[in-house]
Amino acid sequence: MKRSEINAIMRDADAFLKAMHFYLPAWAYWSLDDWRKHREDAQEVINRRLGWDITDFGQGRFDELGLFLFTLRNGTLEALRAGRGMCYCEKVLISVPGQMIPLHYHWTKTEDIINRGGGELLVQVYNKTPDGDALDTSDVHLLCDGVRRTVPAGGIIRLRPGESVTLEPYCWHRFWAEGERVLTGEVSLVNDDQNDNCFLEPVGRFPTIEEDEPPLYLLVGDYHLIG
Ligand SMILES: [Fe+2]
Repeated sequence: MKRSEINAIMRDADAFLKAMHFYLPAWAYWSLDDWRKHREDAQEVINRRLGWDITDFGQGRFDELGLFLFTLRNGTLEALRAGRGMCYCEKVLISVPGQMIPLHYHWTKTEDIINRGGGELLVQVYNKTPDGDALDTSDVHLLCDGVRRTVPAGGIIRLRPGESVTLEPYCWHRFWAEGERVLTGEVSLVNDDQNDNCFLEPVGRFPTIEEDEPPLYLLVGDYHLIG
């Protein structure tokens, strides 16, 4: 992705979040100099990979296959192993009509995907085959706002504003918006994007960036620039 495209997505997303009365932490708007000034105090923001995360899954077609994410908080794998402490994660996502994310599952993370307002959010689910990574033909049992629900393989759950679905490990899923943009929430177990995403088709998790202008704000993948 071109940096200018990422900057434009950031500006547009920020305006949408504010219009939805959803506000980001102060460091979301730090310059590279600000990051350097606060490097010591903000080390956990960097270590936990909080912040702006815009991806085209390495395919160069952001409008069709892509996602805007912002990680607001994230625990640590140490806490997870210890079974205590900050074992949770929260993200805000923006789902845009016409834009899909790749089918994937997580080995470890259970996540709630929440429609926090806007259009409708459609979530498609499949079980994994018991002895492989293919899409199974069995019914999928899950919780929607804590209420048990069963859908056929490839079934689509329609989430209206305020509604959510819980996706357990090994449940293939993808989601997209219908009608209008959706402010999508994600509340989950600790997030480990380096190791806990299994994609059905081979895609990347992060974009390759062509630097055609300076970054407006740093992406999580830019934190090495802080030094
Ligand atoms: Fe997921």
